[in-house]
Amino acid sequence: MSNMTIVGAQWGDEGKGKIVDLLTSEVDMVVRFQGGNNAGHTVIVDGTKYVLHVVPSGILHPGKMCIIGNGVVLDPESFLEEIDALQSLGLDVSPERLKISYKTHLILPYHRAIDGAREGKAKAKIGTTGRGIGPCYEDKKSRVGVRAGDLTDPEVLRAKIERALEEKNVLFTQLYGMPALDPQTVFDDLMAIAPRLVPYLADASSLIMEADAAGKSIMFEGAQGVMLDIDHGTYPFVTSSNVVCDNASIGSGVHAGMIDQRIAIVKAYTTRVGSGPFPTELFDDMGEFLRRQGGEYGATTGRPRRCGWLDLVVLREMIRLCDPTTMALTKVDVLSGLKEIKLCVAYEYEGKVMKYPPQTPRGLDNSKPVYEVLPGWDEDLSGCTDWDSLPRNCRRYIERIEELLGVKAGYISVGPDRNQTFRR
Ligand code: GDP
Ligand code: IMO
Ligand code: MG
Repeated sequence: MSNMTIVGAQWGDEGKGKIVDLLTSEVDMVVRFQGGNNAGHTVIVDGTKYVLHVVPSGILHPGKMCIIGNGVVLDPESFLEEIDALQSLGLDVSPERLKISYKTHLILPYHRAIDGAREGKAKAKIGTTGRGIGPCYEDKKSRVGVRAGDLTDPEVLRAKIERALEEKNVLFTQLYGMPALDPQTVFDDLMAIAPRLVPYLADASSLIMEADAAGKSIMFEGAQGVMLDIDHGTYPFVTSSNVVCDNASIGSGVHAGMIDQRIAIVKAYTTRVGSGPFPTELFDDMGEFLRRQGGEYGATTGRPRRCGWLDLVVLREMIRLCDPTTMALTKVDVLSGLKEIKLCVAYEYEGKVMKYPPQTPRGLDNSKPVYEVLPGWDEDLSGCTDWDSLPRNCRRYIERIEELLGVKAGYISVGPDRNQTFRR
């Protein structure tokens, strides 16, 4: 199998972790290329539930190499908690098979503090995960960030923390009414865990390129979803990294030509966590039905996810930006038991019918979904193992989506377990 990128097609939580886990059996290496522990990727294997935040979901397959790329932001404390939890479930998370790029930026206590204080004070809250993701990427772009490789040079590390806190302590004390953070304490706390982190550091870019040159297969695992992309999503209600497929190369340090397959993970309906426009959102019993049937509560923060019908306008935008070679359609089983299913095929915006999201600042807020209504089905799908075993109306729903988007659903997922997925 060749090299591929897995990307979330909507606003996150499409089931990326599940599909990455499934396809890991066919690759040799899995690389996370953006985001941080704002992500929550749930994988269920034989009834055991694993929730991955920054560790690639490929870790569940013994012997596969997993890499945290330069495009990720890594919270050292949270990373150690995550690997401890995985280890207690019997997984090998040793530095022999899990690597962190020297260039990965570290999320430090002051990033979390800024994230929390800013959201607390804001009138129009973004509804971030509070993990310090945005402030860490800000420091990276401002060139005052601390990178994982700095852990090997205490003097450089101390100077960087001191420099960062010079500015941030003014914010804390004068704007947010909080106590200043002591650079020495931040430094000491980090140095105390550095011996556990340093063995994981590696020249990730070279490792990936060497694996490719040796004929190995690599999967690039995305977090979040295209509508949360910092440039192309529903700005400012987005995350702070590029989510689109092509960031896989920048976020891992490989050239784009190395990746030839792009798999978009599409949930059979739409969800969103946090604030921001969501044209097909349902505020009635139907929304509650999807939340209950789909267990739509955040894997990272436990927040109830906002739920709505599948939005093909959003998916057309994703296709325009990512050109997926195939789609994986997940959570189709959740729609069982509905008399009718609505599919948003376009928006009505300022009297016009739009097939793509309007690009004006408040375009999405003022867009009304145009729906096509399809017949539902009652059958439980959780035991379906191939296309022919799906009820006729379910196949019609999937075929209509494919027809309107011009992309095939190469994988269909009908339950949370690793086994509950089949290929077309
Ligand atoms: P990710 O962030 O894209 O990896 O997705 P999450 O793990 O946050 O959310 C997806 C949720 O749906 C998880 O709880 C999965 O266990 C679950 N899930 C994934 N695929 C399916 C499916 O086909 N059917 C059902 N019922 N649940 C699924
Ligand atoms: P996975 O990988 C769903 C959302 C947050 C918020 C916005 C900004 O599990 O699909 P941030 O903390 O990133 O600054 O928050 O982005 N968000 C996610 N929503 N799934 C995710 O990840 C998300 N990661 C961030 O809810 O609206
Ligand atoms: Mg998630």
